Amino acid sequence: MRGLVVALLVAGSGVSAQGVTREEGLAAWNRIYAVASHPRCTNCHVGAQEVPMWEGLTYGAQARHGMGVRADSSRIGAESIPCRTCHVTAAKRAVPAPSAPQIEEAWRLPPVALDWLGESSATLCAQLRDPALNDGHEIADLVAHLTSSPFVAWGFAPGEGRSKPEGSAAEMAQDVAVWGAAGSPCQ
Ligand code: HEC
Ligand code: HEC
Repeated sequence: MRGLVVALLVAGSGVSAQGVTREEGLAAWNRIYAVASHPRCTNCHVGAQEVPMWEGLTYGAQARHGMGVRADSSRIGAESIPCRTCHVTAAKRAVPAPSAPQIEEAWRLPPVALDWLGESSATLCAQLRDPALNDGHEIADLVAHLTSSPFVAWGFAPGEGRSKPEGSAAEMAQDVAVWGAAGSPCQ
């Protein structure tokens, strides 16, 4: 079943599952890692730490979110200052930096298990291919998330004043499908 799902996903991208080599899988992984380690993603994918990051903005390396903001165990700051106080849930309000990004989804941190901040390529690769280390996500779930998540869409189009990762959500989803079809190789 899982093989079929991957084959179908890869079919949609014009790549045959049998034809994907380990080298192509590794090349796709390197592109995936370049995005997944970009601050537009890691500023939220911070793991167990309570404070989101403000890296890749104007505050220097390893800068944490200002104003005493904490996500707490709710991941939305419900126990202190809720994220929605500043990150208003609103359709397409392109706010240039520096100001709180606003999208049509409740702004929040991911579950602790989706910890990408500061991880090496090898560590993140081993994590993403193993549902036991990845909040239960299979490759097909990752592909589906990448093409439907408003957070991912924002990360690739964060508006004026913010750097963004190479490529697009659709290209990243295709890379994940190719990487999966190659057996999710890690270096
Ligand atoms: C505003 C915070 C935020 C940002 C920014 C963000 N994410 Fe996420 N991400 C989440 C949340 C929350 C989840 C948990 C699923 C959900 O609630 O939608 C998640 C889950 C995921 C997942 C699914 C499971 C997994 O294994 O990690 C992927 C893939 C993902 N994000 C990719 C990205 C990528 C790629 C970027 C950057 C382009 C990004 N995210 C930026 C909040 C964010
Ligand atoms: C008091 C207002 C305020 C609250 C509350 C707040 N933020 Fe922010 N946040 C901001 C501002 C302002 C920025 C933009 C900083 C900049 O662009 O220089 C920001 C930026 C961010 C960024 C970085 C976006 C990027 O460009 O990479 C993340 C991640 C983030 N906030 C997460 C959260 C989370 C999660 C919560 C709730 C736990 C939260 N914020 C609560 C004001 C707030």
